[in-house]
Amino acid sequence: MAFNTTLTPHCQALRERNYLHLENVLSQDFTNVLGEVRDRILSGAQDDIPDWHIEGKKRQYLFDFPSEAFLEDFLLSMSEITGKAPENLTIGERHIKVYLENAAPFPAPHLDRRASEFTVGFPIVIPDASEVCFLPHLGFEENTDERARFIKLGDGVDMAAYYKDPRIVKAQGRLGDMFIFYGSRVWHERIHPAGSMILYTKLNTMGSDPLGENRALHRETVTA
Ligand SMILES: [Fe+2]
Repeated sequence: MAFNTTLTPHCQALRERNYLHLENVLSQDFTNVLGEVRDRILSGAQDDIPDWHIEGKKRQYLFDFPSEAFLEDFLLSMSEITGKAPENLTIGERHIKVYLENAAPFPAPHLDRRASEFTVGFPIVIPDASEVCFLPHLGFEENTDERARFIKLGDGVDMAAYYKDPRIVKAQGRLGDMFIFYGSRVWHERIHPAGSMILYTKLNTMGSDPLGENRALHRETVTA
């Protein structure tokens, strides 16, 4: 089991609010898997994805599901909360993001790429100051580009002040929690991200697999 509860009761809320933070919904199995991932990365035993190393911001590692059964169960839960049939869900991305110690504290908010219809985050290590921010007051128009879109702000904007806007919804999150939101439609960003480690999976119902990570996933689990 990937989760300790059915996620069906949250489906309606996701549709209405576009983003959700669910506390303590991961199973002990899933929490253990993420703890093992954390230990492997922090000890240097797992290599990052070189193409995805964003200088001065973060390193990214590929997440492997521990078994075919776990993957199936994960997709079933994602089906419950998204209201989409599990066979129609493509996992277009499954990255563990580790923010570097020198990562900027107040990056500009962004929309994920189009293939990130649903962005699902699992906090692993979250320092005290680190918070994910949702900016619903910026609207929910879809980013139809194949890459993330960052908000355009004028020169000299005080980003620390920008993030003090009371309309911004902030949440820290911790191991055992889940964030889910419409990634290509909800403006978001993590502030004070330095030292944070989060598993991000991106799902879509368009069959979009721009990085080949869904195809590789099924190959890996079938041959495992
Ligand atoms: Fe994002």
